[in-house]
Amino acid sequence: MKHWVTEKLRCPDCLPKEIPLELINQREISGDIIDGELNCRVCGRTYPIKKGIAIVLPQKTARIKNGNNGYDAPIMLSAYLWSHFGDHMDDSRATDAYRIWSESLQSGGGDALDIGCAVGRLCFELSKTHERVIGVDTSTAFIAKAREIVSRKQLDFDLIVEGHLTQKRHLKFNNGWNFENVDFVVADAMALPFPQHDFASVAAINILEKVSDPLKHLTEVNRVLRADTSMFLFSDPFSWDPAFSRPERWLGGSKNGTPYCHRGIDTMRRLFAGEFEVFDPPLEIADQGEVSWKIRKTENLWEHITSQFLVGCRKMNSG
Ligand SMILES: C[S@@+](CC[C@H](N)C(=O)[O-])C[C@H]1O[C@@H](n2cnc3c(N)ncnc32)[C@H](O)[C@@H]1O
Repeated sequence: MKHWVTEKLRCPDCLPKEIPLELINQREISGDIIDGELNCRVCGRTYPIKKGIAIVLPQKTARIKNGNNGYDAPIMLSAYLWSHFGDHMDDSRATDAYRIWSESLQSGGGDALDIGCAVGRLCFELSKTHERVIGVDTSTAFIAKAREIVSRKQLDFDLIVEGHLTQKRHLKFNNGWNFENVDFVVADAMALPFPQHDFASVAAINILEKVSDPLKHLTEVNRVLRADTSMFLFSDPFSWDPAFSRPERWLGGSKNGTPYCHRGIDTMRRLFAGEFEVFDPPLEIADQGEVSWKIRKTENLWEHITSQFLVGCRKMNSG
C-alpha cells in the first residue's frame, strides 16, 4: 500500500466515529508499504498489510470472507481481467464500457474512490482526471492483481479457455494512466475506512446488487462523498439475488411490501433526489443511460449485461 493512503484510513470497526489508523512495524520500499500493521488506538484492532495489500475490513466482514471462492476464485480473476482489459487484447468482442463510465465522471479537482473496483480498470482511467484514486474491493485476489498492474505497468495472466486449459496473455500499459497516484485496498463497501466528505468523485458500478445491505452501502457513499463540488457515478443491472441480499433489503424488484418495491432505477432516482434521507445534500442527475458490458468466464460462457447508470452531482456551495 502506498504511504499516502495511510493518511486517509479510518478504523472500519469504530464507524461512525472516524478514528485514524496508526501505521506500525512497517517495512517500506520507495513509498510502498510491503508489510506492517494499521492499529486503532480506540478499539485496539489491528489491520494487516501483507505483500503490499492492506486488509482494512471490519471484524464481521473479515470473519465471513474466506478465500478462493466467489470473487476470489481463479475463474473470476480471468473473467474480470478480460472484462476490464479485453479492449487492450485486440479482441473485437470487448466492450468500451469503462471508457463510457469513466468519461461520465469529469473531475473538478480532488480524489476519486471506486467501490467494488475488481481488477482496477476504472481507477486507471480516473487517474487521468483525478489527483489520487483509491479502489476498494473485498476480493484479495482482485486487489493483488490490480496492485501488480500498478507496480509492473504490465499484466500477465492465464486466460481460461475451458476447464484447466488456459492461454497466456501479456499486456504493457503506456497510455497516460498515472500509476503513481492510484492504489488499491481490501475494504468493505458497507464500512468504508475513509473520513467523511473526502472524495470529489465516487463510483459504485455493478456492486449494489452484490452487497448484503444495499442501503447501508449507499449511506457510506453519502458519508465519504464531498458535500459540494462532487459527483457520484452509479451503475447497476439490478439483477437482485437472495444469495447476496435478503429480498426485504432489495431497493427494487419486489411486488409489494417494502418502500422500495418496483424498479431499482426509479428507487435510485428517488434516493438521489433526497428521499429516504440517504443522500444529504441530494444529488442532481447530470447524466444517465445504459452501458453494455460483458463478462467472459470461458471461451464459451459469456454474460451480456445491461447496466443502467446515473451520474449525480453536487454543485459548488455558493454560501
Ligand atoms: C459485479 S462485480 C463489479 C466489478 C466492477 N465494479 C466492474 O463493474 O467491473 C462486483 C464487485 O464487488 C465486489 N464486492 C462484493 N461485495 C463487496 C463489498 N461488501 N465491499 C466491497 N466490494 C465488494 C466483488 O468482489 C466484485 O469485485
